[in-house]
Amino acid sequence: MKIFSKILALGLALSLGFALASCAVAQPEEEIEANKATSVEAEKDGGDTGNTKTDDSKVLVMATNAYFPPYEYYEGSEITGIDAEIAKAIAGKLGMELQIEDVEFDSIIAGVQSGKFDMGMAGMTVTEERQMSVNFSDPYATGIQVIIVKEDSAITDIDSLYDGDYLIGVQQGTTGDIYISEDIGDDAVIRYSKGNDAVLALVSGKVDAVVIDNEPAKAYVDANPGLKILETPYTVEDYAICFAKDNEELRDQVNGALKELTEDGTIAAIIEKYIPSNG
Ligand code: ARG
Repeated sequence: MKIFSKILALGLALSLGFALASCAVAQPEEEIEANKATSVEAEKDGGDTGNTKTDDSKVLVMATNAYFPPYEYYEGSEITGIDAEIAKAIAGKLGMELQIEDVEFDSIIAGVQSGKFDMGMAGMTVTEERQMSVNFSDPYATGIQVIIVKEDSAITDIDSLYDGDYLIGVQQGTTGDIYISEDIGDDAVIRYSKGNDAVLALVSGKVDAVVIDNEPAKAYVDANPGLKILETPYTVEDYAICFAKDNEELRDQVNGALKELTEDGTIAAIIEKYIPSNG
């Protein structure tokens, strides 16, 4: 069976009409680096252990990869987006102060496992393999893997990727990377540390397609004329927050907070703010 086994009618996701004007998408590299420095400086605990996590249990240290609009991205020097806002609301419920650390996506799980970060929240898909390394909270959002191509591309659906001799760009360590590597083959995959870099490689013709989550895909396509998202079958995934296996207590507390924030409409309102359901 091919990878995109859970097939839904395409209109569902694409009709969300998301049109976020994201600064992260078009931000020049120097500016991003400058932002990163400010943000990290402002957020580091200054301890001498080399660890990011502080000893102050009132601080909730969240690891993310802030190049994933609308879930996390920079607005000036601040990391904002759905995950940042939900995490802030969770920290509020727990009487804690949120500290966000921007790291490579594929280092989040190891950092959570080692206790460097209290939790990882990065539009992270729950997979069986990841569940062997970390515990996940209850899901708080849904993601879908889609394919971005140039408007005039010969690639029309997922099957074209199997048939042709194409290069496919992905963000390293993401489910897009894992699925495409397994099913199309390692040789077809070019890995980038940021999703935006994969999209820029598509624009400049270094890769023929990019496989990435649907909401960042929309932001990237909006920011780069000449690209489109294929109307093709895709996977549906759950996003959840990850925790160290030995920190079930925090996972349970966060689940409690998530439940309250779901019941009082806060989660839905945050998602609606960034992904308006009526265009
Ligand atoms: N949902 C995908 C995964 O979990 C991609 C997440 C990428 N997130 C990010 N903040 N860059 O593998």
